Amino acid sequence: MRYDFTTPAVQAVADNIKWNKYAGRDVLPLWVADMDFASPPEITAALQQRVASASFGYSEPTPGVIAAVLGAMWRDYGWTVAPEWLVPLPGLVAGLNIACRATGGAADGVLSATPIYPPFMSAPAFSGRPLLKVPLLEPTGDEGWRWDWAALEREAAGARTLLLCHPHNPVGRVWTADELDRLAAIALRHDLTVVSDEIHCDLLLEPGARHTPLATLSPVLAARTITLMAPSKTYNVAGLACAFAIIADAGLRHAFQRAMRGIVPHVNLLGYVAAEAAYRDGATWRDELIAVLRHNRDRVIEALDGVAGLRVAPPEATYLAWIDCRSAGIASPQRFFEEAGVGLSDGADFGLPGFVRLNFGCPEATLTQALARMRKALGVA
Ligand SMILES: Cc1ncc(COP(=O)(O)O)c(C=O)c1O
Repeated sequence: MRYDFTTPAVQAVADNIKWNKYAGRDVLPLWVADMDFASPPEITAALQQRVASASFGYSEPTPGVIAAVLGAMWRDYGWTVAPEWLVPLPGLVAGLNIACRATGGAADGVLSATPIYPPFMSAPAFSGRPLLKVPLLEPTGDEGWRWDWAALEREAAGARTLLLCHPHNPVGRVWTADELDRLAAIALRHDLTVVSDEIHCDLLLEPGARHTPLATLSPVLAARTITLMAPSKTYNVAGLACAFAIIADAGLRHAFQRAMRGIVPHVNLLGYVAAEAAYRDGATWRDELIAVLRHNRDRVIEALDGVAGLRVAPPEATYLAWIDCRSAGIASPQRFFEEAGVGLSDGADFGLPGFVRLNFGCPEATLTQALARMRKALGVA
């Protein structure tokens, strides 16, 4: 390995949400989706150089960052993106909320497949639109989490927008070509705009796996798709607040930009610097990261799946494991594991109580300690 994935990044910084939650307590924080690894040195070097200029006025995307983003879209997914399709954003959650405001009115439902990252459930309500939940079917036998096509088709009749999480947080599915085709067909049949949140798309854990942006399926689908992406999860730079929408259709893009007017601020100039370095120079760091995460994922499955009533379908992407604790006889799994010294995310916030989400984006030593604490609490140490 060229890079260091064993020394944790400094956690004692005063503004670190993940570690501050349990400051002064012996609880290992494996909750919010930040990793404990130091960001790639290529990003840090670019930031240091930019900071040295002491010039921090309003910024706009430079030709360098635009070229880096478009270059990565081509290099990694074979997607030709025109520069004018890019809409810079300070975050993807903002993008989800803007998209809900831009793609329908008060009577037009917004579809979200649950369990789901919480803003997929709050954005419709914040935009004054009905949320139409389509629960994913639970794993059975060899099959992981999957779509309930009949339910989706039924709910789509009252919808104008589909919020798609691709890959899916928290269940970690990478939607197959067949699943994407079926989603596309439903979007066309019901005249839906699809908001495809692809923030985790560079965190595919299976060797050789390649992400397919939804908008690359066909020109007609591209015309009704808002793709949301960011370097923040892959390169651990969420605090730099730099994301972007890719919207090929001019009418849809203008509607999105109208909904942003007067509300959405400029993107942080250091965010642009980090994004450029990440997309241009971060591929080797990312490849090594994936190997580390794959190993950590396997450790989580070994330690917890089938143990004391817990079930964990192996995530195909992300650094998040979605753990079913409903048969473990524990009233509140989040509280139970927190009391045992491991801070996890509560499944109830994702629309499915009885589950917890574990973030394995940390050095193996931290994970080993956390898994040992969890097993001990379950009486299987
Ligand atoms: C699916 C998904 N979308 C969006 C975000 C957050 O995006 P941002 O920090 O850019 O608002 C996350 C963070 O975990 C996420 O998992």
